[in-house]
Amino acid sequence: MKYLIANWKAQMTLYDVQTWIEIFRSAYKEKKDVTIIICPPYPFLMHLKEKLHGLKNVAVGAQTVSQFDHGKYTGEVSAKALQGIADYAIIGHSERRTNNHETEQQIQAQIALCNTYHINPVLCIRDEKDEIYDNVDLIAYEPVAAIGTGENEDPKKVLEMKESLVLPDNVSFIYGGSVTKENFKEYYEKGGVSGFLVGTASLEAGEFLKIM
Ligand code: PGA
Repeated sequence: MKYLIANWKAQMTLYDVQTWIEIFRSAYKEKKDVTIIICPPYPFLMHLKEKLHGLKNVAVGAQTVSQFDHGKYTGEVSAKALQGIADYAIIGHSERRTNNHETEQQIQAQIALCNTYHINPVLCIRDEKDEIYDNVDLIAYEPVAAIGTGENEDPKKVLEMKESLVLPDNVSFIYGGSVTKENFKEYYEKGGVSGFLVGTASLEAGEFLKIM
C-alpha cells in the first residue's frame, strides 16, 4: 500500500475546506494501492469525514493527539475523543516538537493512546536521532530544512535514511518536505518511499490529486 497524506496545519478556513472538498470529490478516482489521508484542523475533522464518506481508500486523520487519556486539560483533544472519527494521527511533527516543546516521553504517550483507541499513528522523525517505536507502522521522514521551504531533500539521502533505519517489513517509510507534483516521482525512483506527507501542495485539491 502507498500513502498520500495531506497535512493542512493551521492553513485552512471553513470556506477553503468546503471548496477543497467539492474539487476533490468531483475529481477523485480510487486507486487500489493508494490510501489518501486528510489531516485538517480539528474543527473540520467530522465535517470532512462525513463529506468524504463513501470514497474508497480515503481516510481522515488528526494532526496530533493529547498526551493525556482524558480529564481536566483545557484545549487538549484526546485520542479517546477522536476514536471513531480519526483513522490516523500525525505524531511528533517537527513543528510540534519545536513550537510546543513535545518531548520523546510525550510522543511515546501519544502513540500508546493512539494504539489504545484504534488510531494509526504516523510518526514523524527529523533525523536518525529521533526515536522510533515498535507500535508504529508508518514512519514519515521529514528533515526540518525541507519543510515548507521549497528545499526538498535529495532522494538519495532519503534512501540512505531509510536504509539506516532497518525497518521491519510491516513498517511503511514515507517522505515529507516540500513535496510537489513536479518532484514526487524522483522519490519513487530513487528514494525507496511508500508515499508522502504533503503540507503546502495539499492545500489545493487539484495539485494534491496530481500527486496521487
Ligand atoms: P511541506 O510540509 O510539504 O509544506 O514542506 C510538509 C509537512 O510539514 O508535513
